[in-house]
Amino acid sequence: MTRLHFSPPLNWINDPNGLAFHDGRYHLYFQYNPLGAEHGNMSWGHASSADLVAWDDHPVAIAFDETEEIFSGSMVIDEANDSGLGTPGNPALLAFYTSHAVDRRHQSQSIAYSLDGGMTFTKYPGNPVADRGSADFRDPKVIRYGGPAGSYWVMVAVEAMDQQVVFYRSDDLLSWTFLSAFGPEGGVGGVWECPDLFPLRIEGTDETAWVLLLSINPGGIAGGSGTQYFVGDFDGGAFTPLVRHPKVDPDDEAGMRSLTWLDYGHDCYAGVTFAGLADEDRTLIAWMSNWLYAHDLPVDPERPQRGAMTMARRLSLVEIDGVTLLRQEAVGPAVTELEALSDLAVDDRVKLPVTLPPAGRLDLRVDVGESQGFTLHLGADPSAAVAISYDAATRRLSVDRRRGAEALPESFVTEAAVDLRRSGEVALRIWFDPTALEIFADGGCSVLTDLVAAPPSPNAWFEGHGDVVLTEFRVAG
Ligand code: FRU
Repeated sequence: MTRLHFSPPLNWINDPNGLAFHDGRYHLYFQYNPLGAEHGNMSWGHASSADLVAWDDHPVAIAFDETEEIFSGSMVIDEANDSGLGTPGNPALLAFYTSHAVDRRHQSQSIAYSLDGGMTFTKYPGNPVADRGSADFRDPKVIRYGGPAGSYWVMVAVEAMDQQVVFYRSDDLLSWTFLSAFGPEGGVGGVWECPDLFPLRIEGTDETAWVLLLSINPGGIAGGSGTQYFVGDFDGGAFTPLVRHPKVDPDDEAGMRSLTWLDYGHDCYAGVTFAGLADEDRTLIAWMSNWLYAHDLPVDPERPQRGAMTMARRLSLVEIDGVTLLRQEAVGPAVTELEALSDLAVDDRVKLPVTLPPAGRLDLRVDVGESQGFTLHLGADPSAAVAISYDAATRRLSVDRRRGAEALPESFVTEAAVDLRRSGEVALRIWFDPTALEIFADGGCSVLTDLVAAPPSPNAWFEGHGDVVLTEFRVAG
């Protein structure tokens, strides 16, 4: 069966770490417990891929020890040997990770370097390389900055409890000088974690904007863990968003919806992007779970494993109605079209004459006309299906994943919803497998990722709330 989501054969995973494209392969490291299916003994697990779809598992890259757990961070390919840890002919890969002290509440940033293309790592003897005496200074993302202010390395990390992103600079990757702090602003319902910062050209223009991704837990748009993003300018010293938001109380629903979220579902957290790709190939992977219930998800007792990654997503920036938005396109396996329906007028619930494969892609377009919207049910039968609904009055697209989730926590069965930006015709691209849905609407500017408790195949029912036309329904797998 087509595999859409990376997970290791065994054990617990959370955040993607150290994403890097090097020598023709995509390297995915991740928060990993080598000893069990719960969070603990955090180390960097490792997998690699030629196409972001088929992954080879590798041995643990950086292991916990009696002094520290290896928390989240990023990778730098030190081509110019600025650190002196490699040689010009064989650049070192530098993993920047958070040293999470085992014996006290303390977090600082450290380096482990690899001279064999990212397979094995040696801890840098001068660790830590950035220390604020803080218990919650973590998740370093190191990027190369080149702009009016010069050319140097920038580290973006968080003071998680203070809800601040902190920026540092360095010429040699080893010694770091504080530049500035951003926040708190926007979503402030929980700790700030796993920042990323990158420039992207705004499509159809010569302008470039900087995107600051920021995960927050709890206080995400669907409850629990979520990722907001800010579009603005980074001048080499400080980040300034184009739109300034006040601090938004997580109970203020309108305020929360006025912020921009990478994903409006429950299960897209700690997403970060690859080093080693051109700016126009900016690619993200996120953890497909939520701290609210990640520990309570059932495991196969024969093969205890918890956690998976979202599909990889290519990012671009577009302007819609004066707002600059991230657009995401999933990098999926090659699929072939299996079935296609068109121009089906519906004013009730009909079972569609199609069979969905266990994993694949649906593309649908619906002309909602004057109706109140529609619901698409995907599953074995309507009482064991996930329901995707669109409410025309509010333009709200929502996912109801209650079915099959009876034994799961209350927080799992809450609805996730996104208010679509475009009205009239609704076009959705849905990637699905037995574990999850990744829904791309508004051409990829509104995305909703949800784990599901009941597999969203093999059947589909389409229900018009009034007269709607299913203009197009394509199944690929
Ligand atoms: C985010 C996070 C990070 C931390 C890691 C620990 O999910 O809490 O802030 O580095 O997980 O596993």
